[in-house]
Amino acid sequence: MLYGIILASGLGTRFSDDLPKQFAKVAGKTVLEHTIEVFERNKHIDRTIIVITPQYRHILEDILLRNHYGKIYKVLNGGDTRKESSSIAISSIDEENAYVMIHDCARPFLSDDVIKNCVEALKTYDAVDVAIASADTLIEVNDEKIIKNIPERKFMRRGQTPQCFKLSLIKKAHELSQGDENFTDDCGLVVKHNLASVYVVEGENKNLKVTMPEDIFMADKIFQINSMKAPTVNDFSAMKDKVVVVFGGHSGIGECVINLAKEYKAKTYAFSLENGCDVSDYENVSEKLKQVYQTEGKIDYVINTAGILNIGKLFDRDIAHIQKEIAVNYMGSINVAKASIPYLLKTKGCILLFASSSYTRGRALYSTYSSTKAAIVNLTQALAEELYHDGIRINVINPERTATPMRYKSFGKEPDGSLLAPEKVAEACLNTLLSDYTGQVIDVRRKDY
Ligand code: CTP
Ligand code: MG
Repeated sequence: MLYGIILASGLGTRFSDDLPKQFAKVAGKTVLEHTIEVFERNKHIDRTIIVITPQYRHILEDILLRNHYGKIYKVLNGGDTRKESSSIAISSIDEENAYVMIHDCARPFLSDDVIKNCVEALKTYDAVDVAIASADTLIEVNDEKIIKNIPERKFMRRGQTPQCFKLSLIKKAHELSQGDENFTDDCGLVVKHNLASVYVVEGENKNLKVTMPEDIFMADKIFQINSMKAPTVNDFSAMKDKVVVVFGGHSGIGECVINLAKEYKAKTYAFSLENGCDVSDYENVSEKLKQVYQTEGKIDYVINTAGILNIGKLFDRDIAHIQKEIAVNYMGSINVAKASIPYLLKTKGCILLFASSSYTRGRALYSTYSSTKAAIVNLTQALAEELYHDGIRINVINPERTATPMRYKSFGKEPDGSLLAPEKVAEACLNTLLSDYTGQVIDVRRKDY
């Protein structure tokens, strides 16, 4: 039995926000929820124990009520120090032959690979740490900020968590260390009393600990990079009888989404200029959704692939032309999202919008197109938070250059194999619709790297 222990009982004094950092929101959820989800998804962890700051216990209880976690075993009030909090969790387990994996809640990027390697190492060692090599030279200083010692860098590591132990070993380490609070982690106790060899598993740079206020921005970026690939649900049979509405659904990616959803017996509706729907017109979009609802009695998924791409220097372009591009690309996404909300509230459904790879940096000659795409990503992040408690998810698909009629009309013939197949984008869309992702940028590429 492997118990996962999430230490979330700190006050986050260095983070200096109204609430401790475990309740800071990033990518649509609190840091605490992200960390709980890592444990929920991981197949090696059997039960999760959360140690929480007593005065904020009610926030955790709200989180537990809102979500459907299956592994939460205990919620314990923590102590004044990290050591005390971990001791509280360890001593709450009676099972003789159990193992524990103690993890800082403030590290929401723990990967399944690291957990797997820890579990593997536990077969040989009773104590396992996770650490990364230091790219920087580490120096030891005295109180006057004068260097005392420079240890040889190749032997230096920066400790992370999780730290894993045979329960009986870490219990003994805590017993022997009573009264000594000078520890920042659990391996330190084992090493101090020389109780066992502590094996070090290779950690990951991205497994950062949210500590200072600026770390939350870094965490946000890591979430973006982390979601490079679409999730792989891959069992599209859950699409059966789902009502799927695709704006821009008569050609290109939109058409492929319709076809793939149909293949899995979803009820699909495509709207575009071809059947009199202009996404830049809110009433028009609203009317179409109403018609679908009247026919089907529900709407599960709404996707907006409609967009236009115009080239030209801003100075040279006609203002009406620019306004139309913004109306279709940006207001179109706002219109589709806003008009869908009343229906998706009932089904706890999902919205997909579309970005382009130029969203991260404006591109000359495409200033309006690339800036509308940046705005759509920003919009998605904001709406993911606004809609989180309503159970509506929203994500943005960011495909590489894709072989669509719009692309052909804008760029002409391009080398064979240089473009992404729209079918691949459609698969990423279905995977995302069926996942629990929200507020994410899902990159779709020809090759995964
Ligand atoms: N922790 C805990 N109980 C404590 C202190 C810390 O459970 N009494 C947890 C924190 O919630 C965090 C992890 O241990 O997930 C690592 O500690 P740290 O990064 O130092 O967090 P805080 O103590 O909350 O932050 P600070 O030191 O800035 O106050
Ligand atoms: Mg601390």
